[in-house]
Amino acid sequence: MDGAKEMGIRNVSSICSLTKLDEHDLSCLPEKPRLNIERQRSFDERSLSELPTILTRESYDNYDSMHSPCGRSCIDTPASFGGNSFNPHPIVAEAWEALRRSLVYFRGQSVGTIAAYHHASEEVLNYDQVFVRDFVPSALAFLMNGEPEIVKNFLLKTLQLQGWEKKIDRFKLGEGAMPASFKVLHDPVRKVETIAADFGESAIGRVAPVDSGFWWIILLRAYTKSTGDLSLAERPECQKGIKLILMLCLAEGFDTFPTLLCADGCSMIDRRMDVYGYPIEIQALFYMALRCALVMLKHDGEGKDCIERIEQRLHALNFHMRSYFWLDFQQLNDIYRYKTEEYSHTAVNKFNVIPDSIPDWIFDFMPMRGGYFIGNVSPARMDFRWFCLGNCIAILSSLATPEQSMAIMDLIEARWDELVGEMPLKIAYPAIESHEWRIITGCDPKNTRWSYHNGGSWPVLLWLLTAACIKTGRPQIARQAIDLAETRLLKDGWPEYYDGKLGRFIGKQARKYQTWSIAGYLVAKMMLEDPSHLGMISLEEDKQRKPLIKRSSSWNC
Ligand code: GLC
Repeated sequence: MDGAKEMGIRNVSSICSLTKLDEHDLSCLPEKPRLNIERQRSFDERSLSELPTILTRESYDNYDSMHSPCGRSCIDTPASFGGNSFNPHPIVAEAWEALRRSLVYFRGQSVGTIAAYHHASEEVLNYDQVFVRDFVPSALAFLMNGEPEIVKNFLLKTLQLQGWEKKIDRFKLGEGAMPASFKVLHDPVRKVETIAADFGESAIGRVAPVDSGFWWIILLRAYTKSTGDLSLAERPECQKGIKLILMLCLAEGFDTFPTLLCADGCSMIDRRMDVYGYPIEIQALFYMALRCALVMLKHDGEGKDCIERIEQRLHALNFHMRSYFWLDFQQLNDIYRYKTEEYSHTAVNKFNVIPDSIPDWIFDFMPMRGGYFIGNVSPARMDFRWFCLGNCIAILSSLATPEQSMAIMDLIEARWDELVGEMPLKIAYPAIESHEWRIITGCDPKNTRWSYHNGGSWPVLLWLLTAACIKTGRPQIARQAIDLAETRLLKDGWPEYYDGKLGRFIGKQARKYQTWSIAGYLVAKMMLEDPSHLGMISLEEDKQRKPLIKRSSSWNC
């Protein structure tokens, strides 16, 4: 960031104006961390000084020194087996076998993994396709095992698909849109293979996947960081691909918020679940993708312009999310006491949230110590639900401050039964029931209470939890969660999700041999075994950004 933009983040010692209670004014307050947490040093900090890694503090997030190859040889057996002190759980071998069975080839090259292998007995729907989001844990497993080729092939293949003209009925989608999934078609007569991609035009609900492009950028950085091969990200087509994805998000419009407005069902939760507007999952992925793009974009003419816009957006998004999406006991109490109908820029309750709209469950759920980013914030609406993916990505991208990251982990520990239960990990908490379920889901029989996206437990989320645990210096939490998963995953045939308040039952319509359940487990295992893998998927706090100053303290100024 240059000096002028730094001014935007402002000088702490400058005098605070009472008339403009916005971000600038708030930051001139002394930092008063609300949570009194005995911070363990995070993995990021320790990794730089103590772990046998070639990274240094300066180089950790620097594109020029992104090289952190895992140094594994490309052998067929999982590298985990070769470790000296590591004693692999017997299901690790089974998991690798299952993961390899799910490989999809296109003209002789592996280009991805199928969503679920065991779909014979059930309706196939689109589970025989390669989903972009589902491939991420597979890709990380292969990278960690020293097999980057498939990841490279996938990145290039999906990039080609981005180049297609995408239409839903007569409406043309934005150029940068990435597919939700693709399928390899074999023509036995002509003996050719072709690819069919789905950008939302075939998906149930016809929603374009906003998360696919973000995952693509995040994966490109993971590949680069893991292999040290800068040449892929530097290719003109990759540079263009990044810019096209971000142009869809950085375009100017009527927005008054830096968060990204989107439709219900545009990410992992791909059915109507009241996850529209400004859902945390998309905002956290957006933030992470912006930061990853920043280290990969070349500073040439077009790149420079894009970099500038990314920096401005990151700055605003960081402030907005840390201030308005963050909820802990104190903040909840502040909202509970909010005045409403405040007009002008001095308003404390900026979005006019009516305290009566706070759901009952949150008062019991919120521990004295801990916090999280809530599901959604928009005018007069706060979705207080806890979503796993968004909170883990907030930690990994350093959208969360170190204090907030620790608080998220504190909450997971304090609410272990609710969020982890007997099978990690709840996709969202709590479930929507009865009348609310009818109205919100449109009576969706797949998303009944404590099932699927509506409070179901998804083993794939284990890798995200593990990464967040390592980053916050709490690997023991991940170990406990992995132990739980190991008692059942293989025996149950790697289900897609589990149902019930404690996640005790194999999901009503869960697919078996769901690839991301398998890969998510392997990635979690490998990261615990060798925490230096974390660097692939984690970004350190941007030291240039200001620490969080709480909005509710603004009147102290
Ligand atoms: C379901 C999930 C979605 C996933 C797809 C393939 O539709 O909701 O997140 O990508 O299955 O596994």
